Amino acid sequence: MMLSVRGLTVSYGPIGAVHGIDLEIGAGEIVALIGANGAGKTTTVKAIAGLLPFGGSVTLDGTPLRPGAAERNLRAGIALVPEGRGILGRMTVEENLLMGTYCRTDRRAAAADLAGMYDRFPILADRRAGLASLLSGGEQQMLAIARALLSRPRLLLLDEPSLGLAPKMASFVFELVASLRADGLTVLLVEQKARHTLKIADRAYLLELGRVVTSGPARALADDPVISQTFLGGRPLAAEAPSGG
Ligand SMILES: Nc1ncnc2c1ncn2[C@@H]1O[C@H](COP(=O)(O)OP(=O)(O)OP(=O)(O)O)[C@@H](O)[C@H]1O
Ligand SMILES: [Mg+2]
Repeated sequence: MMLSVRGLTVSYGPIGAVHGIDLEIGAGEIVALIGANGAGKTTTVKAIAGLLPFGGSVTLDGTPLRPGAAERNLRAGIALVPEGRGILGRMTVEENLLMGTYCRTDRRAAAADLAGMYDRFPILADRRAGLASLLSGGEQQMLAIARALLSRPRLLLLDEPSLGLAPKMASFVFELVASLRADGLTVLLVEQKARHTLKIADRAYLLELGRVVTSGPARALADDPVISQTFLGGRPLAAEAPSGG
């Protein structure tokens, strides 16, 4: 496994948010993390990215990751596209993209990657000198993903990339994520749009109140009664009676 998470616990002060999550991601997989608001999805990916203190263990290719070592994790190949995208609106599109390369020492290759990103996302090339805040929501998500890719990650953590996007743009983002696998990337995809997510993911974990309640192949989970009744039917999981464990 590329990433192994064992017994992950995260608290905000005295309040526990993640209560012992086990999760594995194999090289080349798209693994989905789905669950309702407050389930602990963001907390889990932030802990993996090194942005939060945690208990338990997280290993990348067998090497333990230290809690809170975000920059080290980035250099080790873990990039996060945060919830809300983390675009700096008062900076230009290009300045935002260049932030993605700051941890790299191969300046030539980084410059070539930047040019390649403009080829891949022509709209970003058109807007490169404009303020990032002037991009549409979908374009900002594209920018956030492009910026993360410019660190040349092996593992990309995406936190609700389709949130707040018009359906057409959301579909574009899902297609983009699916295409990343062809580039050899490994992806942990946090989403609330379970139906669409399970179509592009290989495997998925369903979180509820900081715990994994169901996991398995994405195709099987799409048929799982727990998921189809409580999640894919449109009712949030949190509105359901607790399953009792
Ligand atoms: N900075 C914080 N301080 C205190 N509690 C927090 C903080 N961030 C999250 N929490 C709590 O931790 C729990 C998990 O939150 P988290 O943001 O990880 O959930 P999520 O699954 O990402 O939800 P959403 O779908 O709304 O993004 C929630 O109970 C939340 O209220
Ligand atoms: Mg979240």
